[in-house]
Amino acid sequence: MAVLSLFAVFLALFVSPLPCHDVPGYQKPVMVQQTGKVLPKPQTMTASTEAYALAMPSFKFTYGSSSEMCDIVDQAFQRYYDLIFDIDGLRKAPVASKDMSELNTLQVMVKEPCTGVYPSLESSENYTLTVAAPMGTLVADSAWGVLRGLETFSQLVYRTDNGMMLINKTTIDDFPRFAHRGILLDTSRHFIPLKYIKQNLDAMAYNKFNVFHWHIVDDQSFPYQSVVFPDLSAKGAFNPYTHLYTQDDIKDVIEYSRLRGIRVVPEFDTPGHTASWGAGLPGFLTPCYDGTTPNGKYYAANPIRNTTYDMMTKLLKEVKDVFPDKYVHLGGDEVNFNCWKSNPDITKFMETMGFGTDYSKLEQYYIKNILDISTSIGRNYIVWQEVLDNGVQVAKDTVVEVWKSNPAVPTEMARVTAKGLRAILSSCWYLNYISYGTDWGKYYTCEPQDFTGTQEQKDLVIGGEACMWGEYVDGTNLIARLWPRASAVAERLWSAKDVTSMADAAVRIDEQRCRMVRRGLNAEPLHPGFCQFEYD
Ligand SMILES: *[C@@H]1O[C@H](CO)[C@@H](O)[C@H](O)[C@H]1NC(C)=O
Ligand SMILES: *[C@@H]1O[C@H](CO)[C@@H](O)[C@H](O)[C@H]1NC(C)=O
Ligand SMILES: *[C@@H]1O[C@H](CO)[C@@H](O)[C@H](O)[C@H]1NC(C)=O
Repeated sequence: MAVLSLFAVFLALFVSPLPCHDVPGYQKPVMVQQTGKVLPKPQTMTASTEAYALAMPSFKFTYGSSSEMCDIVDQAFQRYYDLIFDIDGLRKAPVASKDMSELNTLQVMVKEPCTGVYPSLESSENYTLTVAAPMGTLVADSAWGVLRGLETFSQLVYRTDNGMMLINKTTIDDFPRFAHRGILLDTSRHFIPLKYIKQNLDAMAYNKFNVFHWHIVDDQSFPYQSVVFPDLSAKGAFNPYTHLYTQDDIKDVIEYSRLRGIRVVPEFDTPGHTASWGAGLPGFLTPCYDGTTPNGKYYAANPIRNTTYDMMTKLLKEVKDVFPDKYVHLGGDEVNFNCWKSNPDITKFMETMGFGTDYSKLEQYYIKNILDISTSIGRNYIVWQEVLDNGVQVAKDTVVEVWKSNPAVPTEMARVTAKGLRAILSSCWYLNYISYGTDWGKYYTCEPQDFTGTQEQKDLVIGGEACMWGEYVDGTNLIARLWPRASAVAERLWSAKDVTSMADAAVRIDEQRCRMVRRGLNAEPLHPGFCQFEYD
């Protein structure tokens, strides 16, 4: 009751004339309306204002008679039932409706076998959803399409003030514009507990993201517990007992992701960004010199020792066995050459190889070896743009991640795709950068195909990623910092190219933020005002 009366006070505040309209910086408060808007906006949607009541408590999800069945869909039925009917706190038990048609079933048809499958870059996520009383239908090729369709269905449901659960008569034919829609989390600058990684996977599913790019290790710490090199985390994690992802944790994350149609692409970034590897993998890093004597410092993988490649082979073989995705991210960004330049053995090697003083040739040599190792063990790779910028020969099925703003993004996107390589864009989606006020608009207006090139080049753009680098982010603020700002990226990557109205998107993002709060996520507010679920 205390909660309800607090609610009444807030209502009274907003109903009574506010005294401060002329105050500079005053922003009108907004009460977020729940009307069953869908984010990301579906490709085609015919909605009507004819509303049905969800039958309570008899509403159910069922399989159609000729549908494939599997745990992915079984568990999604349970999850979405709970999300839709989740009743506690302020949320009153739904009341039965009089004089209204009822929707009592959503019948689901999966065409392809789905037992034991993992999502991939080639997966179909298409679905067709028809909401009409008394039974709606959801048809998809794959379980992944069913997951996207169930998310849409759950978003169409809204609640009246007197507690009725309603859904409007609707038909939707939907599919993603881009196949690769990722979120990067950095678990090296700060450790992110499993609980928040899973919350983020939930949020990704609510926004139809499908790739968890796990930047799992970096200079600052090595929380991945390797079987072949256990010392890497024993000596490289912030705390080898608590700040660690064990093999069981990794399996848990991969399965949790699979059930939500999310690929897990791990990144083992080398030769730079490897300071934390040094203690656990003696001989891997390059000794730096002052004149002719080692100065006790180490930097970057040592590209001239064969053992470096032996170690990488062992590690990448393990990574291949642990992570089922066909792709691994091999990094390759931001290598500083100073330490390599200081090392007399490297100078000698440069002469032998005929590299002169061009250290980018040495970098190419290193990266080429790593890419070849990856290919030989059966993994395709994603690399940061520098690998291409430095002229390394890459395999045809390489995916290049464009992250810099200099050279300009359109120049780089054109350059990558002109080589016939696929590109993903993240330059404009570094959500770790924050500022005062609302910034989702600038993420919303970033268009990945906005460069000069042929249609074939445009088609090589397979998507993008929102990045949350971890210097100032851990479990305490990850969710609030990412959501709902990443929802703007979600819509850009899923919806049709011509879905660009900010005014239209604003109401969808508002409702989506409020929906995420209702589902228990600390998604941050976008403006003064309130969401009726934020009191829990
Ligand atoms: C659903 O119908 C109601 C009226 O019955 C309307 O106010 C609401 O905007 C509709 N929602 C959507 C998403 O079209
Ligand atoms: C998904 O639907 C779109 C639009 O109809 C179509 O172009 C695409 O080929 C479909 N994808 C799959 C995997 O069926
Ligand atoms: C390193 O490997 C190369 C190529 O296999 C070989 O020619 C060279 O002798 C090896 N160096 C050492 C020190 O084993």
